Amino acid sequence: MSHADDEPVTNFSTNPHMTDILASRLSRRQALLGGLSATTAAMFGSFGVSGCSNGDGDGSSTLKLGFDPVAHSLADMVSVPSGYSAAVLYALGDPIKAGVGAYTNTGLDANFESRAGDHHDGMHYFPLPLGSQTSDNGLLCLNHENISEAYLHIAGPTTANGARPQAEVLKEMNCHGVSVVEIRKTGGVWSVVQDSAYNRRVTPFTEMELHGPLAGSGFATTKYSPTGTVTRGTLNNCANGYTPWGTYLTCEENWAGYFKRAEGDDANRNGADNALLARYGISPGRSGNYGWTTASGDQFQRLDITVTGASASDDYRNEAYTYGWIVEIDPYHPESTPRKRSALGRLGHEGCVFGPVKAGEPVVAYTGDDSRNEYIYKYVSNANWDPADANGGLAAGDKYLNDGTLYVAKFNENGTGEWIALVYQSNGLDETNALYPFGSQAAVMVGARLAADSVGATKMDRPEWGAVNPKNGEVYFTLTNSSSSSSGRGQGGSGSQPVDAANPRSYDATTGSLSDSLDGNVNGHIIRWREDGGMASATTFAWDIFLFGSRSSYGAQINASQLTDDNDFSSPDGLWFDPRGLLWIQTDDGAYTDTTNCMMLAAVAGKVGDGGEITLGSQKTYIGALPSEDSLRRFLVGPKECEITGITMTPDGRSLFVNIQHPGEKGGAAAPTSNWPSATGDATVTGTPGARPRSATIVITRDDGGAIAL
Ligand code: FEO
Ligand code: CA
Ligand code: CA
Repeated sequence: MSHADDEPVTNFSTNPHMTDILASRLSRRQALLGGLSATTAAMFGSFGVSGCSNGDGDGSSTLKLGFDPVAHSLADMVSVPSGYSAAVLYALGDPIKAGVGAYTNTGLDANFESRAGDHHDGMHYFPLPLGSQTSDNGLLCLNHENISEAYLHIAGPTTANGARPQAEVLKEMNCHGVSVVEIRKTGGVWSVVQDSAYNRRVTPFTEMELHGPLAGSGFATTKYSPTGTVTRGTLNNCANGYTPWGTYLTCEENWAGYFKRAEGDDANRNGADNALLARYGISPGRSGNYGWTTASGDQFQRLDITVTGASASDDYRNEAYTYGWIVEIDPYHPESTPRKRSALGRLGHEGCVFGPVKAGEPVVAYTGDDSRNEYIYKYVSNANWDPADANGGLAAGDKYLNDGTLYVAKFNENGTGEWIALVYQSNGLDETNALYPFGSQAAVMVGARLAADSVGATKMDRPEWGAVNPKNGEVYFTLTNSSSSSSGRGQGGSGSQPVDAANPRSYDATTGSLSDSLDGNVNGHIIRWREDGGMASATTFAWDIFLFGSRSSYGAQINASQLTDDNDFSSPDGLWFDPRGLLWIQTDDGAYTDTTNCMMLAAVAGKVGDGGEITLGSQKTYIGALPSEDSLRRFLVGPKECEITGITMTPDGRSLFVNIQHPGEKGGAAAPTSNWPSATGDATVTGTPGARPRSATIVITRDDGGAIAL
């Protein structure tokens, strides 16, 4: 079983990308200028523009990129601009408890509950102490999305008499989850504090509380928790979030693949249950990733959701309903139990990003569902923000994340959009619904994809990370690609993707032509929107496309953002506004990797509406102002067969943390295809020939100690 980004298409609903296009009463011009009317400009000012020196909502215009662009690279090392250094800080297997030995990287190491996991992904730096702006001591929280199984054992994974050895499965599962590690800078050098009391691994075995509509609803009833209030573990933790109250969010993405479901199990369930499982990709006959359920022990076999007992409290038929959530972790309290926040819906969650909070207004968070043809969602709390909760931990999470409204996005052809509420007994989400008989808010949240299908949300080209511009509250989302060919990262199928204004390209990966056999949106794009009235909780918005990914060699119909050798990219995935308002773009690509390894770029963002209308093929859309080499530059290129994902920074802007995930992902222990990182800890040099590659967090600093990238 490969760990490869397995995002099977499970959205076969009949709504096309742009179904039921409503003729909007707003013209495009009105939509884009709406936020600039006298009334809304005043509201906008109180929302987030206060940090903007020119006050026009374009909070990045005073930023200036101050580094030389990094060239394309196929080298097995990290490349950063001249005058910068990159050091390995926290790599697969590194010990995080006193007395645990150094990682041998031979396949012999065990006890990963006390070591770094694999496949580093979303990440955030929390200063120590809580509430401070400390830039030389903090807690790094990061996700371990998956594993490079081939490198974890002496000579790859084994199976005996149809069963995986328990020790191997234990190791693989403990390599998933989350790390919380204290880091400290001493003498200019960052290191992990190996014996810190804060250090912690959250794994697929860690007990989790269920909160929100799911808790006690019956959907989560299992042999382990007959009352349906707790579950074990978190899986496939991709991107992340961090709350306004000082906690970390880890997001469960491709969790469905880990579950086994025997052939014929559909005969023991009703039609609604079968439809629900199928919509999330768990049809009968699935064996479950890596064969974990073949190991002996309840903690492994509970991932087999086949109905075997007399009732839900006798087996694990419902175990998969306890996955697919956003999970809140309090890094400052290592003894605390993580909480799954079911009011944010059950999806293939990529990440979760908050709008700027304002006293007396709801808390707003955005989350994307990363599979082809899935949707973008927004959560709006019922409770209004109280700044006294700023360091409130999980109790504040209970207040803001357990009660609220989940919306799904519809992008209209004219550059406007709307948020459609997913609330039981509204918008047709009730027992009479044709897709699923929603009988409660718990059902709407557990079946959020089906709910979104039925209200006519816009199918997107794989929503990955979101980011909110701290200067003006505008929201950016990467749409990594919709490729249906082997030349992209998309899965299976063939032929063109349907296009619409918000997902406007489908083209041939080899020629970059709209007219040959179409592979889909091969290189992805970044969409952005501004909530009407500058209110994060608004139910309407205006959007445009910030950037189109492309080879610089493609023609203008594909390379619509006119990218050059210094800033072209493919398959944007990670996305983050740093506190200064600089936008960082990271790639997880398979379509441009003949030319360059995956990369990270820095961008000075403009604002929605700063470009204009264009037509690509026969599809009209809206594009932001074209980037220049002063506003978009490549900052980093990673080693072979990696993706770049996960990014955070110290409050002083002088230490930048980035994750290198799965270098050498196509190789094996006998013939590694990457040897990164080097044993010296310098991320910018190649490793020892023959050495097994390791996912790792690196820390980037400027040699003169200055602010990163500016
Ligand atoms: Fe885990 Fe969608 O990337
Ligand atoms: Ca991702
Ligand atoms: Ca990815």
